[in-house]
Formats: sequence, structure tokens, C-alpha cells
Amino acid sequence: MVDAVRLGVNVDHVATLREARKGSDPDPVVAAALAELAGADGITVHLRGDRRHIQERDLDLLRRTVHTRLNLECAANPAMVKIVSTFKPDHATLVPERREEVTTEGGLDVLLNLSLLKKTVAEMRDANVELSIFADPDYDQIKATAKLGVRMVEINTAKYAEARRPEQAAVEADKVAQVARAAAKLGLRVLAGHGLDYRNVVRIVQIPEIEELNIGHAIVARACLVGMERAVREMKDLLHR
Ligand code: PXP
Repeated sequence: MVDAVRLGVNVDHVATLREARKGSDPDPVVAAALAELAGADGITVHLRGDRRHIQERDLDLLRRTVHTRLNLECAANPAMVKIVSTFKPDHATLVPERREEVTTEGGLDVLLNLSLLKKTVAEMRDANVELSIFADPDYDQIKATAKLGVRMVEINTAKYAEARRPEQAAVEADKVAQVARAAAKLGLRVLAGHGLDYRNVVRIVQIPEIEELNIGHAIVARACLVGMERAVREMKDLLHR
């Protein structure tokens, strides 16, 4: 068990604010640099089909300036295979995407999309990019993910994060913990994320198999009030076990 969970900072919502005026500020590339200075272990961005926040320009600059690891979340489709092959992030996370959604609504249904995912995984692997799948805390999905031949899975913590009652949160946290254990037994490295904030992250950090968390909205929201570096440092402090 490692004594601290790595932090991937998702800077999408810095770009959301920029796109509100279609200008150049605030710049997610600058936010990423500040997050790294404050101790982020990686930078994550989601290039969506509708380009509602992150743009190719951001990806290009981030590829050239991120010193830690650049993780690109993207849909499994030929356009994104091309993007991954062009920009070569260190890591790509395959996520489901629906145009009308406010944010990623759930994990990828690996069982339902098996043949598409097999093809995408093979093509992205040719680009020499490490791959993970964003999956719900469901054993069958994790087993199917392991069979795809990827080495990492990011467990969706949204249901846990959204749980209103403490008993419900405990049940959802337990599901994440059980699936994390099962994933590790299947030889997968385990990441997690979605909806985590400065309060609910504490319980997820205690799951020994989880080595990295991807956190975006809570950090960017806090950064608006206290600055990016402080927001990242405060989150990093919570990731020690
Ligand atoms: N992980 C994945 C796969 C995501 O799609 C997102 C949202 O872009 C996150 C983590 C971060 O979620 P949040 O912004 O709620 O921290």
C-alpha cells in the first residue's frame, strides 16, 4: 500500500469559464502549470465531441508543457483515435459521451460495446498510449475491462459522491472498495474519480488499491476563491493515508 494517493487535476472547468466568453482567459494551460507547481501528479482534460470546454489548442500546448503526466479523457470513436495518435498524451481514458449530458453520466458499458472497444483499444495502443477505461463499480464491467487487455481502470465514484444519506454513502463507498479489490486481483491498476470533493474524498483515500484520483470540479471551484495552487495543495494534503 502506498502512503499517498496521486492526484490528477482535471482543468476542464477552467476552459468552461473561458468558453463562457469565447475569449482567452482563464487559460487551462496556465491552470495546469500552477497545479503542477502545487504538487499535482498529473493533468487531466476531456476533449469532448462538441468542444464545449477543452480545445485542440489546449491539448497541443498541454502536451508540450505538462511535466508530470497528461491524461486525455475521450470517447471511443475514430475521431478520438486520430486525436490520441496526433497528440500522444501519456494516458488516455475512454469514457462514454452523450451530447446533451452536463458531465459524464456513468462508466463505459464495456459489455455492451465490446467489439468497438476492442478495436479502439488496439488502435490507441498502436499510438503507444497507456489506456484506462472509466467503469462503474460493477464486477462484470471490471472483469470485461480486464479482458480487453487494458492495464488500468478508473472506477466511477459519482454514485458515492451523490449519496445524500450517510448510510447510502457507506454502501456506495463499499461497492467502490470491493470492486477496487477485485480489479487489483485481476491485475488492473486502480484509479477513481468523479464528483469527489474536499469532504467526500477522505473515505475513498482509505481504499488501499486506489493509487490515483482524478478530481476536477471541486478543485477548480475552490481555485476560483482561493487560487489554484492553494486549492491543489489542500487536496493533496487530504490524499495521505
Ligand atoms: N474522471 C472522469 C472519467 C471524468 O469524466 C471526470 C469529469 O470530467 C472526472 C474524473 C472528474 O470529475 P469531477 O469534475 O466531478 O471531479
